[in-house]
Amino acid sequence: MSIVTPAYIQVEDDIRAILRKPGYDNGNIGPVLVRLAWHSAGTFSGLDGSGGSNGATMRFAPESTDPANAGLDIARAFLEPIKQKHPWISYADLWTLAGVVSLRHWADLAGQVESGCPVRSRVPPNGRLPDAALDATHLRAIFGRMGFTDRDIVALSGAHALGMCHTDRSGYDGVWTHYPNQFSNLLYKNLLEMTWVKRDWDDWDGPEQYMNVGDEQLMMLPTDMALIWDPEFKKYVEEYAANQDVFFKDFSCAFGRLLELGVTRDENIEGHEEGPRGAPQNE
Ligand code: HEM
Repeated sequence: MSIVTPAYIQVEDDIRAILRKPGYDNGNIGPVLVRLAWHSAGTFSGLDGSGGSNGATMRFAPESTDPANAGLDIARAFLEPIKQKHPWISYADLWTLAGVVSLRHWADLAGQVESGCPVRSRVPPNGRLPDAALDATHLRAIFGRMGFTDRDIVALSGAHALGMCHTDRSGYDGVWTHYPNQFSNLLYKNLLEMTWVKRDWDDWDGPEQYMNVGDEQLMMLPTDMALIWDPEFKKYVEEYAANQDVFFKDFSCAFGRLLELGVTRDENIEGHEEGPRGAPQNE
């Protein structure tokens, strides 16, 4: 089933219409919508097929209160009027579509996302999303659980060309590139071409993060630095820094796969969504 139906096109148009938002961050809510789509899908476990965007379980505890999801209530609230206007679309599809619409301007993700009917709605346990304070081993464990390779991990991490960190959400602070509303391979270029030093927090006890020597306007998370500290990851950073087209192609494939993780469909039931079934699974 393709998403290219008049009804979906109307939802896409409505999402596109709210992307620009003067006064919010850098004037665009696209980055936080991309983060919502990724965190919604990124709970998937290939071990038992649980998690993933099905059922939009981030609406429910404990996922809604996972510190990794801090600030995504804001993204969900941005989309709520669109859900009210088009009640037939499931939250899961709406969040996924919003991430894709935000990115589609730059990367060709057409056809990657289809209408999905959430069937399994168990809320996954917290702790499945990556911890920015950790390293390459952690990234491989988290993304390996979703079935991603080193190359995929580096490609997906390129999304940090977009948007910013907020001290009141993750505790981290700042933008990764000077153009946080443009999707590009700049994350990789910045990683390789700039010198990065630990940020010295003068006024408070902030988390470990890195800043560029020079204008000191940019930041990297420890997990971003792991992309150049780990020699296997670094090979792909170099490839993507040298060739944006290859990055866009690999990103589109990996992001499309991410959004599809654990999505099961029933063509007879569209946009059907319930609360969490049964107790959350603990691991
Ligand atoms: C923002 C961590 C991978 C897309 C953030 C933030 C953190 C983070 C700490 C800041 C949140 C805030 O304070 O608002 C990580 C870690 C990852 C990872 C540890 C492991 C590799 C990804 C992936 C994507 C992504 C795979 C998408 C494909 C984004 C976007 C933002 C963001 C677009 C900016 C959100 C905004 O501007 O509000 N990430 N992330 N991240 N992340 Fe990631």
